[in-house]
Amino acid sequence: MADPARVAVLISGRGSNMRALVEQAQSYRVALVASNKPLAAGLDWARSAGIPTWCWDSKGVPREAFDAALTRALQDHEIGTVALAGYMRLLSPGFVAQWSGRIVNIHPSLLPAYRGLDTHARVLAAGETETGCTVHLVTEELDAGRILGSSKVPVEPSDTPATLEARVLAAEHRLYPAALAKFVRQ
Ligand code: GRF
Repeated sequence: MADPARVAVLISGRGSNMRALVEQAQSYRVALVASNKPLAAGLDWARSAGIPTWCWDSKGVPREAFDAALTRALQDHEIGTVALAGYMRLLSPGFVAQWSGRIVNIHPSLLPAYRGLDTHARVLAAGETETGCTVHLVTEELDAGRILGSSKVPVEPSDTPATLEARVLAAEHRLYPAALAKFVRQ
């Protein structure tokens, strides 16, 4: 089996968590950045940082075909751990089964609360005084796998979804590299 310390980070957009994972890497190495969006800003950053990248525009591509190609790329780069970082495409059940126990994700809430999208607006609408972020294993059920680590963030009375997102994102950038390092060492 491939070395768990060889990590692929999957992105669809700006890739700020991917960048934090690269810049704070300890115990693991980001050996590939993969994306389903050719215009993902994070891809440019990864290329300029000299990290191997793989991309295929997933628009109109059947899920199984896309994930099979992704798996080949992961195998070509001898990847042992897959870290999702703003990867906005559902993984096929076959992919999740094949990589079972080796896919991690970061989610912008204190799981198991606020699974799914638009977490910050829902946290504000519910009048919460605290939120945060969670790193967890990926299973077939959305945002429901074993929790590997979490970090709490206060909600301020003046917060908007944007200000809350920024505060949680800063916590994500500290939590994810630390939780991933611990995960690959276990
Ligand atoms: C982060 O908030 C992460 O928790 C969520 O998607 C966002 C990705 O942001 N899963 P970035 O691309 O890492 O900047």
